Amino acid sequence: MSNNKKVVLSGIRATGNLHLGNYFGALGKFVRMQDDFDCRFFIADLHALTTHPDPKMLHENVKQILAEYLAAGLDPDKNILYVQSDVPEISEMYLLMNMHAGIGELMRTASFKDKARKALGISHDGNNDEEAVEKEIIGNQSGKSVNAGLLTYPTLMAVDILIHHADFVPVGKDQEQHLELTRRFGRRFNAFYNTEYFHDPVNFNFDGKPVKVPGLDGSGKMGKSEGNCIYLVDDEKTLRKKVMRAVTDAGPTEPGSTPSEPVANLFTLMDLVSEPDTADHFRKAYADCSIRYGDLKKQLAEDILKITLPIRERVLEIRNDDQYLSRVVREGAERARDIAADTLRDVRHIMGIRKI
Ligand code: ADP
Ligand code: TRP
Repeated sequence: MSNNKKVVLSGIRATGNLHLGNYFGALGKFVRMQDDFDCRFFIADLHALTTHPDPKMLHENVKQILAEYLAAGLDPDKNILYVQSDVPEISEMYLLMNMHAGIGELMRTASFKDKARKALGISHDGNNDEEAVEKEIIGNQSGKSVNAGLLTYPTLMAVDILIHHADFVPVGKDQEQHLELTRRFGRRFNAFYNTEYFHDPVNFNFDGKPVKVPGLDGSGKMGKSEGNCIYLVDDEKTLRKKVMRAVTDAGPTEPGSTPSEPVANLFTLMDLVSEPDTADHFRKAYADCSIRYGDLKKQLAEDILKITLPIRERVLEIRNDDQYLSRVVREGAERARDIAADTLRDVRHIMGIRKI
């Protein structure tokens, strides 16, 4: 794929089935980008180990995500599709890049604080929790620990991106801080070694705004660990039930009022899956107080199913075709390794690791 197309790189952790947040924040964008860019998409199994170190589940999850990538329409002839751990050059470069990553900046990363808090069982109480997390990590009173892989998660992600010299990294809003760190690490490497080896990668969104898909429980974000997800592989009945149970409110009482968060979330989902006219219709009904949430939810479920059901059917077909799955990632790994080996060779040389 030697051409002058911009390089796109992204990955999703192998931690479970993909949900609508993953689809609109990441996978759906991958599919839309594959014709116009030089794309490399991978399954982040090493990253999954930071929070999900279960050997059996890890293996199943890698296969599941691969099947979902293919079922959603990623074409192995157009993209390089690979599993992160199949490219050992990434692990070596991760070790090298860690020499230039600061413990303080890694500890200040929002995702680290969040996951460390969860690992330590510290609840989010707003004010002094940052101090409590740091104290607990260092003092280790409870016997619970935060693994070093979690701390250096952003270094590994930076390497995923920099090893490809990626221009665009399609990810959801929650990953923007990691992308910022990637740029910082790349620039720091350049400055330290007096080179211009790495350039800045940026997020990619079709309408310019990073996507945040809300949950069905009235909360801000649909997420695997929040228990508020619609999965691409949910069957029709399950999916309809989840949507019909979505949190709403007592309904508007005054014309022109602003929707509460749970209702605004349903509109946000509708904007993603329904025709603009449909969303407009329900917004108007909200504004003049004639809205019936049951109707809105029925329509929403219908429009989500139009997207997810065809994917679900293909996942079920592909998931058990081990031969096909392993061929895709074997070929992908070969191509990814060629690229990664070139970068690693340069990085080693720049850093002074040279043959005697
Ligand atoms: P989760 O948060 O469910 O564990 P991941 O962290 O594995 O999901 O995310 C994989 C990709 O999906 C990332 O690019 C992330 O930004 C995107 N993503 C996850 N949840 C959402 C969401 N609710 N809205 C938009 N994008 C999301
Ligand atoms: N951190 C990303 C997530 O949680 C997954 C990821 C790992 C990634 N390496 C990456 C995304 C490189 C884009 C590019 O979703």
